[in-house]
Amino acid sequence: MSSTSVKAESPSTAKDPFPTMVTTSTPHINPKGVDIAETILLPGDPLRAKFIAETYLDDIRCFNEVRNILGFTGTYRGRPVSVMGTGMGIPSISLYSYELIHFFGVKNLIRVGTCGAMQANMNLYDVVIAQGASTNSNYLHQFNLPGFWAPLSSYRLLEQAKRIADNRSQRTHVGNVLSSDLFYGADPDAMTKWMKMGILAVEMESAGLFANAAAAGVDALGIFTVSDHLITNAETTAAERQTAFTAMIEIALELV
Ligand code: HPA
Repeated sequence: MSSTSVKAESPSTAKDPFPTMVTTSTPHINPKGVDIAETILLPGDPLRAKFIAETYLDDIRCFNEVRNILGFTGTYRGRPVSVMGTGMGIPSISLYSYELIHFFGVKNLIRVGTCGAMQANMNLYDVVIAQGASTNSNYLHQFNLPGFWAPLSSYRLLEQAKRIADNRSQRTHVGNVLSSDLFYGADPDAMTKWMKMGILAVEMESAGLFANAAAAGVDALGIFTVSDHLITNAETTAAERQTAFTAMIEIALELV
């Protein structure tokens, strides 16, 4: 680690549990002088981040290669925007989003990814916009709240994304997703119980992202493409996913 790098302090030991500062590098992000924009798109797959940057952005510069979690900054229609992979799961997106918010001043964090549909009226390739993210993760316990806190997305971003999707005549579902720690779960009844509570779809990251954003007073949203269906067992192919991804990315970029 260079002498200018900042060690991210644990919230429990730091004087200010949620410091916001612009720094030169953290344990997981080393931009080497390249700016990170206030608005960032966050796909799980770092190669997807590269694809988004190369396909949609102008003047791109790579700002992170640590652990191959690629990050890029460029412009979209003249406005600065960044895109970075997060890896899979709440622990991974939580550490990257924490560093982006608290050490690099990022203000709008938009997760873009795939999800598994959990309601019968949903089709492959539909777009899901997360209003909230229920979870089976323990991540929220660290905030020591005297009850159950509901991880919600930013209403400002949610309302804009829905309007953009409607203007494109894009079929969307807005509601509660499940951010699951389990891709292969042992309880065969678990998903049916979540479905009965109206959960639209399962993914693995948004609850951690929404919690970090809320704790820091910044905005976060999750936009997903349905890649598989838990009721019909329908699945998309990798090639089909590439095209289907386009609508979701374009909605996210129009938010910038
Ligand atoms: N489970 C969890 N995450 C997912 C799924 C799924 O079925 N599909 C896409 N992301």
